[in-house]
Amino acid sequence: MTKILYKKNFTFGYFRVILYSYNLEEMLKIKDDLIDLFEKKKGASVKSSSFTSVIKFANNETNRVYYYKEFLNRGVKDILKNLFGFYRAKKAFKAGHMLLRENFHTPRPVLFGIKKKYFFISKIFLITESVDGERTYEYIKKYYKMPMSSELIKEKRSMICAAGKEIGRLHKSGIFHGDLRVGNILISGAGDNTRFFFIDNERTVKKNRLPEKYRLKNLVQLNMLGLSHISRTDRLRFILSYIGVNPGLSETKKTLIRKIVFLTNKRKKQKPS
Ligand SMILES: Nc1ncnc2c1ncn2[C@@H]1O[C@H](COP(=O)(O)OP(=O)(O)O)[C@@H](O)[C@H]1O
Ligand SMILES: [Mg+2]
Repeated sequence: MTKILYKKNFTFGYFRVILYSYNLEEMLKIKDDLIDLFEKKKGASVKSSSFTSVIKFANNETNRVYYYKEFLNRGVKDILKNLFGFYRAKKAFKAGHMLLRENFHTPRPVLFGIKKKYFFISKIFLITESVDGERTYEYIKKYYKMPMSSELIKEKRSMICAAGKEIGRLHKSGIFHGDLRVGNILISGAGDNTRFFFIDNERTVKKNRLPEKYRLKNLVQLNMLGLSHISRTDRLRFILSYIGVNPGLSETKKTLIRKIVFLTNKRKKQKPS
């Protein structure tokens, strides 16, 4: 990993920025956009959760579009973690590259960085390259408008099977996504050729073998999706296609499905959407 450091003076002092990347050339080209991004003078803000700030921007030198994501502190725990160098941006950067190495779709992490004012960390951020996927909810509502023709229903079913296969492949590789809500999957293409991009990877990890607890957690996170376009049979289709990739689970498939349903209902009661 390459690191660059620079200091910027302003009227009442200075700040330092430390940037890390695997690609020095690209990092140097993007570096000059950062001051404007810090001040929200560049790009367009994108809807994100309350503990992040996301901006989509284009870089003139690379001719590419990127997403700048700033990780805001969620409390004392984050502040302590940052002091010890456990930055969320760094975790997301590394996990993104791991996913790419393992042949999964995810926006390519370009760099991550820390802005320090004197000794205090004032910003922690990650830049990823833009992918042309759409948010799951919007994608489904847009492509699978009700009432659906039989052709469209067929296509939707293929998309659901493709999703089951892809998540199955993810788990088969021992990868757990820390927050696999459908909101963290971007989709492009259609039917069998649908592509699923995993985003928000700060808690994504690869294990030698995926523990049962993690498998269930991800499957419940996905099953929380509440859209009338996705029927109970579609959910079954998803899980069968998931098991198809993980044949070791086929003997206990009924128990697995029962657990998913039970835990999803429990979670819905705790967190009604
Ligand atoms: N590289 C990217 N390509 C395309 N869209 C992106 C990219 N990164 C972020 N986004 C968009 O920004 C939104 C918020 O990003 P995300 O990383 O999920 O932040 P949060 O942690 O706040 O959920 C996503 O839902 C997606 O629409
Ligand atoms: Mg997200």
